[in-house]
Amino acid sequence: MLQNKKILLGISGSIAAYKIAALVRLLIKAGAEVKIVMTPAAKEFVSTLTLSTVSKNQVLSELSDNDSWSNHVMLGRWADVLLIAPLSCNTLAKMAHGLCDNLLTAVYLSATSPVIVAPAMDEDMWHHPATKDNLRIIKSYGNEVIPVESGELASGLIGDGRMAEPETIVERLKNFFLIGKELDGKKALVTAGPTYESIDPVRFVGNYSTGKMGIAIATELEKRGAEVFLVLGPSALSIPLNINVVRVKSAAEMFTACISVFDKVDIAVMSAAVADYTPVNVASEKIKKSENQFSIELKKTPDILKHLGSIKKEGQLLIGFALETNNERNHALKKLSEKNADLIVLNSLNDSGAGFGYDTNKITIFDKTGKEYHFDTKSKPEVAVDIVNTIINL
Ligand code: CTP
Repeated sequence: MLQNKKILLGISGSIAAYKIAALVRLLIKAGAEVKIVMTPAAKEFVSTLTLSTVSKNQVLSELSDNDSWSNHVMLGRWADVLLIAPLSCNTLAKMAHGLCDNLLTAVYLSATSPVIVAPAMDEDMWHHPATKDNLRIIKSYGNEVIPVESGELASGLIGDGRMAEPETIVERLKNFFLIGKELDGKKALVTAGPTYESIDPVRFVGNYSTGKMGIAIATELEKRGAEVFLVLGPSALSIPLNINVVRVKSAAEMFTACISVFDKVDIAVMSAAVADYTPVNVASEKIKKSENQFSIELKKTPDILKHLGSIKKEGQLLIGFALETNNERNHALKKLSEKNADLIVLNSLNDSGAGFGYDTNKITIFDKTGKEYHFDTKSKPEVAVDIVNTIINL
């Protein structure tokens, strides 16, 4: 699986760096080509001589060396994958905030390949809110994190924070290359987030959707090789670099943005929580309070999924969502047929861990042939994998 794969291995300063010689041997044995970039701090933990010997390549750690310049851009482009192991707290923080003060951080910032990291740190550092925030940030950029393990730490304490064992990292890399680019050459449209329907210049009708599920689907489609167009309602979340994003506010704007790309896509996944109604009139000035009771007249928004279902061409796959609180199965099946979708992904607000804002979701997928696929409660990125696998199987 790793035969002829180009692995750029970044090593940062952590005691776990001593395990990297063993990791490199495993990678070379599996047929990979390995080039190594180290931070200056990493050199305190493992020698460049050892690593250049086992990798059969010169180890790089300086941006310039005796008048010659290490071309970080070309290194980033050479790699099939950039693996940073061990990832120290310090390098993690630099990755999260775009700091670029050594060859490894420069390579990271210019890498066009996927990035996988294997963090290693002491338990208290691992559980610090700053570390958690930084991990969340780098994941939001599309980087993949190999979970730390629990066990004896450099401090002598027992707890979370050990770098995954070299064998585990190699397995993860094998899986990475195993997951095919099944959607190479395909184009996908994804809608995500809420819509805001203006009442006046300072108020709107909206909902609690954050966009997490749809962004996870867009990310997974992109990982599998699709060119992704994400039409995103108001959302504070950041989007991985390789995804084309159109930011919209209202259902009408989302409709226009979807129509403009639908013709050229092979797959459309409508995961946005589109407002069903919008105010008939939008006040141009802020509405002042006066009467005890106040009504807003609402009219239907365009049903984007239904419209796309009516213009869908042979070969285009259309996936809708159904968020229900009761009679879930019947409502989902009704949406599948009425909106002419190929799949409906149902989430029920009666399932714990499912719905707006959660990091997890629990779904059932219905297809047109009457098949139902039930899944356990999982993290949203894992749910996205299940959804994309079901799409690919179609
Ligand atoms: N949807 C859409 N445009 C709308 C409303 C919904 O594209 N104006 C899409 C959603 O993105 C989702 C699916 O339709 O994929 C189902 O949305 P939902 O709100 O659950 O269903 P509705 O058809 O709006 O019906 P109801 O609110 O009565 O359940």
